[in-house]
Amino acid sequence: MFTTENEEVANHGRLKGIIICRSKCALIFLILALSGLIFLLRNILTLEVSLASVIVSFCQKRPLPSYQTHTFCSHLGLKPTQDEALEDRYLLKAIAWPKLPARPAPVPLNQTSDPVHSLFTILPSKVQKEWHVGDQLEALVQMHDFQGSPKCYGGDFLVARLHSPELQAGVAGTVVDHLNGSYSALFPLLWGGSAQVQITMVHSSEAVAVLQRLREERPNRVFFKSLFRSGKLSETTTCIPCLPPDSAQQSLCNYTNLHTGEPWYCLKPKLLSCDTRINHAMGGYEKPLYTNKEALLFQSRINLKIVIHASGPDRINVLPQKIGTQSLLQFMEGVYTPAGYYYQGTWRPLYGTSVRKFNDSSSITQCLTGKVIHMYGDSTMRQWFEYLSAFIPDFNLHRSKRVGPLMAVDFKHNILMNYRCHGPPIRILPVSTSELRYVANELDGLAGGPDTVVVFSIWAHFTSFPIEVYIRRMRHIRQALVRLLDRGPGTLVIIRSANFVAMDQTTSKHSSDWFSLQIDKVLRTMFKGLGAVFVDAWEMTLAHHSPHNIHPPPPIIKNMVDLILSHVCPDKKKS
Ligand SMILES: *[C@@H]1O[C@H](CO)[C@@H](O)[C@H](O)[C@H]1NC(C)=O
Ligand SMILES: *[C@@H]1O[C@H](CO)[C@@H](O)[C@H](O)[C@H]1NC(C)=O
Ligand SMILES: *[C@@H]1O[C@H](CO)[C@@H](O)[C@H](O)[C@H]1NC(C)=O
Ligand SMILES: *[C@@H]1O[C@H](CO)[C@@H](O)[C@H](O)[C@H]1NC(C)=O
Repeated sequence: MFTTENEEVANHGRLKGIIICRSKCALIFLILALSGLIFLLRNILTLEVSLASVIVSFCQKRPLPSYQTHTFCSHLGLKPTQDEALEDRYLLKAIAWPKLPARPAPVPLNQTSDPVHSLFTILPSKVQKEWHVGDQLEALVQMHDFQGSPKCYGGDFLVARLHSPELQAGVAGTVVDHLNGSYSALFPLLWGGSAQVQITMVHSSEAVAVLQRLREERPNRVFFKSLFRSGKLSETTTCIPCLPPDSAQQSLCNYTNLHTGEPWYCLKPKLLSCDTRINHAMGGYEKPLYTNKEALLFQSRINLKIVIHASGPDRINVLPQKIGTQSLLQFMEGVYTPAGYYYQGTWRPLYGTSVRKFNDSSSITQCLTGKVIHMYGDSTMRQWFEYLSAFIPDFNLHRSKRVGPLMAVDFKHNILMNYRCHGPPIRILPVSTSELRYVANELDGLAGGPDTVVVFSIWAHFTSFPIEVYIRRMRHIRQALVRLLDRGPGTLVIIRSANFVAMDQTTSKHSSDWFSLQIDKVLRTMFKGLGAVFVDAWEMTLAHHSPHNIHPPPPIIKNMVDLILSHVCPDKKKS
């Protein structure tokens, strides 16, 4: 594996004079001048042709790297089986991100991607200059740096949205990286009327490279703490899931979970034994993480989540669907299709059950009658609990509302709903070790069956760790879900994906959308084919007009809850 990496670096070394756009300008000009001289002697036309070919070769595609993991987190926990190792490789390949060209020195800011200098263009419709519902719209983005020169390599993290404020409509686009500084944003046209393209640079490719390095080299940049107590003695120590290789000398308490194999360690208290750990809580953030130069890549008003402008019009008018086509989905076969879209503020999934509105207390309690709903995860899951507990009385368990566990009971309709946070790593107020449980273990304690609904959302506290930590956690949960579905056929499993968050320079280091994107891809891939309902929070927050927030605002939560209730009690008439 390392040889491949070294070879790649060596190759870049050999080729950098030709491939890198600017650092070797002198060399390029020399080549140009020489070739110019030679060709001038022949004729002017040939010179133009050769100039064009030189420019194209600067911007040639750079292949995706094979994912290398250098983290010291990956060897922890149980050794993966052959199948698991195979899946690991597959997942790492699925989330591979373009690497920056190798350079002798760090890129100066003025040669990094600048959303203000970058532009997109809506490509003309292929048919009669008209767009109809069911067609695909393409916008071509060309990235530039702060000096206005076109970028020649990919890896910028761009997101795209097509929307109509008048119609309260919105849909997430898909962005294709051509690996040469240009990108295509593709959108299905799902409503008639006006549709406006919005393309945002979340991070430059140079910023993503910094995040990637942090994720692998500084896996403990978010750390935790535990209080140990016995009688009158108490001590607090630091806790982490990823043991540095030189940690053998330190005295540790090993809290690796015996059932799942999930690793967890705390520094051993000086006076107390490892058995006296009484709680778990957020510890702090390692500092400093960026160099001053790197910090320039994460400036809120300059190159962090900034909109890219259109070189021409940024909106089109969409005509009704052409007559003769049957269903929209059939029509769009082969075209990229998202999970759904907003229309008049309401989320409409393109697949599966259509969403009904649950506007009042009676429609919600009727839907949930006789059900037991188990919710697990982070505060984005707790938002659903809080929303529903306005209709199902919240039972006071004398626990912190933010930490839980929480329970809501409706005796009349025989409804039980509870929420529990997932196991560490979790950035949380102190939670008692007795309440700190792994979701996989909790699932193993359920009987399941058609009256049981299991819902989980696990992502926000994993963003700062190497992806292997997340893969391992999800694998244990998936194994437990498979056992649960065998034990209690008919159990409804609902999975909520990651969502976009508000970011600044500080929060990017551990909570960037780029980390969530990678986690989200892993989640989707790992739970495919399990028959679970997937609530696409990623698209639901991207397509919506609300500013990004780790806790999406009430209109999005209502759409999510309407979606899950539509699956809990499907419309009998329709299905
Ligand atoms: C680009 O940045 C470098 C390093 O800060 C500086 O030396 C150079 O003058 C800048 N170039 C332009 C054209 O601003
Ligand atoms: C980049 O690649 C795309 C897709 O292959 C191509 O359409 C475009 O012309 C290329 N851009 C440059 C500057 O070479
Ligand atoms: C921690 O305990 C687990 C389970 O007993 C074991 O597999 C692992 O090797 C231990 N870790 C260390 C660093 O000793
Ligand atoms: C729910 O409320 C929306 C908007 O207030 C309304 O359009 C819809 O008809 C209502 N649906 C039901 C089933 O009450």
